Amino acid sequence: MADYPSYNDKNLAIELVRVSEAAALSASLLVGRGDEKAADQVAVNAMRRALNILDIEGTVVIGEGERDEAPMLYIGEKVGTGNGPKVDIALDPLEGTSITARGGSNALAVVALAQAGGFLHAPDVYMDKIAIGAGLPYHVVDLDASPSENIKNLAKAKGAEISDIQVCILERPRHAELIAKVRETGARIMLIGDGDVSGVIATSQQDTGVDLYLGAGGAPEGVLAAAALQCIGGFMQGRLIFRNDDERGRAAKAGITDLNRKYEMQDLAHGDVMFSATGVTNGTMLRGVRRYAGGAETHTVVMRSKSGTVRYIEAHHNFRRKPFVQ
Ligand code: FBP
Repeated sequence: MADYPSYNDKNLAIELVRVSEAAALSASLLVGRGDEKAADQVAVNAMRRALNILDIEGTVVIGEGERDEAPMLYIGEKVGTGNGPKVDIALDPLEGTSITARGGSNALAVVALAQAGGFLHAPDVYMDKIAIGAGLPYHVVDLDASPSENIKNLAKAKGAEISDIQVCILERPRHAELIAKVRETGARIMLIGDGDVSGVIATSQQDTGVDLYLGAGGAPEGVLAAAALQCIGGFMQGRLIFRNDDERGRAAKAGITDLNRKYEMQDLAHGDVMFSATGVTNGTMLRGVRRYAGGAETHTVVMRSKSGTVRYIEAHHNFRRKPFVQ
């Protein structure tokens, strides 16, 4: 962020924690209440309020949708006080709306920030994704290779048996063939119901047991996951999937001309990236919000690509001192 002398990335990263905490605290009130829309809405409201008190001149580039379909935190919306560095923001106030509505695991509030131009302006379409953790030879896996080649190469690079490898995949009918092919190799699979941001990040965290992420999920979520991997290390590629003219039109609006392009991680997120995620419900990476009389506890991970620092912040919020605003 050398272009912006007032940019203090260390402080900004810590301030970003409050942004994801605010969204998670609000969404936590709707855990298991069966109302995805309401859960998303309260998270959006809270994240927007928290962003608007930051001293930044921010533009939402990955947000809740295009202006005509999202009243708040839409793509292109300006956030922050305007007194600070120009930054681009990628966010998902509630990653896992249906998880939250049914009280499942791995729902997160997520926000990432980079210098202007740091994130791919990904349209709201699907993206085919592949990701592995850090410390492996570059390109040991590739989006264009078969699941069997990727799994074999990854096992070899890790000095492991194929049966040691665990692949995380979103459980969707569209993945039936992929799942069958992975099973044929002898590798193990962790099927997740939702939440591929945390699925991708899990490849970079040893204690999750996830070695490889494969499959198609949201493109905006792909950018958020790449932002996290830029900070903690790892390898990721993605390719947008277009199912109809409307989706191709979204790409054109976002300025994407090569519809077949294979994006490397740095095409998805680059520069001095910061990423903050707060658990809404318990998950592989973070504990969810725990509410109690007069307050709540949150668990957040905040990371910076420049230093590679990864901080876990457990916060105890006292609603008696500072009333909680949903
Ligand atoms: P939402 O929070 O918007 O519900 O997204 C959850 C999610 O599972 C993402 O993590 C994933 O990228 C996407 O949905 C997959 O989309 P689909 O449910 O259409 O397969």
